[in-house]
Amino acid sequence: MKAIISDVHGNLAALEAVLEDIDSKDVDEIVCLGDVVGYGPEPVACLEKLSYLMDGVRCVMGNHEEAVTAGSADSFTSRAKRAIEWTKVQLFGPEGNPHPDAQARMELLSTLPTIVERDGTFYVHGSPRNHTREYITPRDVRNKSKMKAIFDQLETFCFAGHTHIAGVFTEEGFSTPADLMNIYLTGTEKAIVNVGSVGQPRDGNPKASYATFDGDTVIFRRVDYDVNRTADLIYSISELDRSLGDRIKVGR
Ligand SMILES: [Fe+2]
Repeated sequence: MKAIISDVHGNLAALEAVLEDIDSKDVDEIVCLGDVVGYGPEPVACLEKLSYLMDGVRCVMGNHEEAVTAGSADSFTSRAKRAIEWTKVQLFGPEGNPHPDAQARMELLSTLPTIVERDGTFYVHGSPRNHTREYITPRDVRNKSKMKAIFDQLETFCFAGHTHIAGVFTEEGFSTPADLMNIYLTGTEKAIVNVGSVGQPRDGNPKASYATFDGDTVIFRRVDYDVNRTADLIYSISELDRSLGDRIKVGR
């Protein structure tokens, strides 16, 4: 069985809680859908914890990895941009004084694949059409031409992250994990399964989100963690906007 995690965003307490939960299940492979860093207060610790996943093809690139390595944060909000600048210093050291691991970290993050295929299933951060940056939100089901164009790019079944909102998109519409009693059975229909976010959920539930997949069945899972620990760390770093701490407490 695989565990699929996404959007850790430098939230070590959430990541550790999820990895502990995964440990208690019959999981033989973890796939990470990107955005390990950005927003959160412990990007280096999260990267180190997951670096074994990044050696090879088990982690795809998120838009935050793209931003810290290629400097492409133009589309980011100002608080996200400030967080990216701070994250870059944590990962690579201040200008003129590179961290001893700067080169290795740059190499690791800048060479992540944008899409991975495993046993006929695809894994991306954003969407099958634009792997790192395109958002597919629940509201998009009303945008028939957008959804059609995206599903036209998809042969079968795909996992994605990026919106931080878990659920299943089919050509018929969107279902939340609650609609599905947390279980989605894959079949012949095309589907895009968003596993939600480990470190910054945005569906009104602050618990860390991830999913397991045994080849047929996706199970959406939520894990409690010490949100206040991460929020307090955010509040202690002036480059990280206080609202980044506030939002993880309410899952928005
Ligand atoms: Fe993200």
